[in-house]
Amino acid sequence: MMKDMENRPSWSSQFAFIISTIGSAIGLGNIWRFPYIMGKNGGAIFLIIYLILILFICSIPLLAELILGKISQKNTLGAYCSINPKFEAFGWLNVISTIMISSFYFVVGGWVIYYILKSFTLNQITDFGQYFTNFVSGTYTPILFTLFFLFICIFFIYRGVNQGIETANKIMMPALGVLLIVLVAVSLNLPNAHLGLKFMFSPDFSEIDFSMLLAALGQALFTLSIGMGTILTYGSYLKKEDNIAKSAFTIIVADTIFAILAGVMIFPAVFSFGLQPDSGASLVFITLPKIFAQMQYGGLVALGFFFLLFFAALTSGISIVEVPVAVMIEKFNISRKKAAAIMFAIIGLLSVPVTLSFSALKDFKILGKTLFDLFDFTTANILMPVSSMIVCLVVGWCLNLANDYVFKSKTLHNIFIFMMKYILPILFIILIITGLMG
Ligand code: PFF
Repeated sequence: MMKDMENRPSWSSQFAFIISTIGSAIGLGNIWRFPYIMGKNGGAIFLIIYLILILFICSIPLLAELILGKISQKNTLGAYCSINPKFEAFGWLNVISTIMISSFYFVVGGWVIYYILKSFTLNQITDFGQYFTNFVSGTYTPILFTLFFLFICIFFIYRGVNQGIETANKIMMPALGVLLIVLVAVSLNLPNAHLGLKFMFSPDFSEIDFSMLLAALGQALFTLSIGMGTILTYGSYLKKEDNIAKSAFTIIVADTIFAILAGVMIFPAVFSFGLQPDSGASLVFITLPKIFAQMQYGGLVALGFFFLLFFAALTSGISIVEVPVAVMIEKFNISRKKAAAIMFAIIGLLSVPVTLSFSALKDFKILGKTLFDLFDFTTANILMPVSSMIVCLVVGWCLNLANDYVFKSKTLHNIFIFMMKYILPILFIILIITGLMG
């Protein structure tokens, strides 16, 4: 036991932790999911609600996961067990969720790699919808790309927390920032770009409804990587003296700025070319390629955009796989290399049928959903809110934080504890019930 603790990795600096956690938060959720959910839910008003929720509500389970990780210095199973051995199941829930989310997240990661390779030939396509459908409904190509994406993630995991995870984030996150700024500048210089900005920033309060609130809450959880044990696991590599309130705030601000800039990159372009902002999940793979194909230097812009998406997906993917890998290393006492190889096999196997949801298995439905939709729905609508509720309840009720202030101000600290114990669990129950009904 002692030996385990001595060998346990830790971040080389607080900066390494922050940049890696920002890397986990910024992902397909910001560039692919956020703009289309915003597009479907009324634009500016959605943005306002989302900002309020992320700052005042979702920051709380984020902090709860960080506290549990930092205090226990263990993987998700160990962290819950250290509070009560009966809670081990909560850790397993995280393991199952991460394996489920990775099998569909990595499918999209595979699509991104495919589009990177096609960046310079987009102008040869006539029907972009058909092109996308033909690609995802193929058998071998999407599987190969999914496994390739998984392989790259596993490579960084295999190299360890400092050599792999930190290095990947320290290189890819700045690259991501530069790419985003360049693409925002390109988009803002298109004719009629102001229409996209108007859509994003002039709210119509009559559009607020309950389903929008839920969509905003779901998106806020997803984007902050909450409810999967990733933040807990990354938090467990912190040194005890590191300050988490400041880190949490930095992570939230960076993630939000990024999501807004992703919108500023996408919507002016969409409006400039007279397309619809509410085309859903296909916004990035059908609408945008159509735009790139018509743009000056479109091939280059497409390449930059899909690389941006790739880096974002990769740094999040790494954080997802680290959860089960940390469990295997510490629970079953195996080497990181072995654990990474085992996870490659498990996630790889599971992602094959998920990839086939668009081809051979497109008629195989459970509860009326293909495997891809089922995994997406179950993780985002059920497992993430359930686990976020659990972490709030466990940290709020079972840990004594009376002498361990998260915030310097006592009032703020007490509000935080109150929210964690009472308000958040109730909110999550509502979210889960409505999610199940939806
Ligand atoms: N936050 C990531 C995104 O916005 O794409 C998705 C994600 C990563 C969700 C890690 C959950 C997770 F554990």
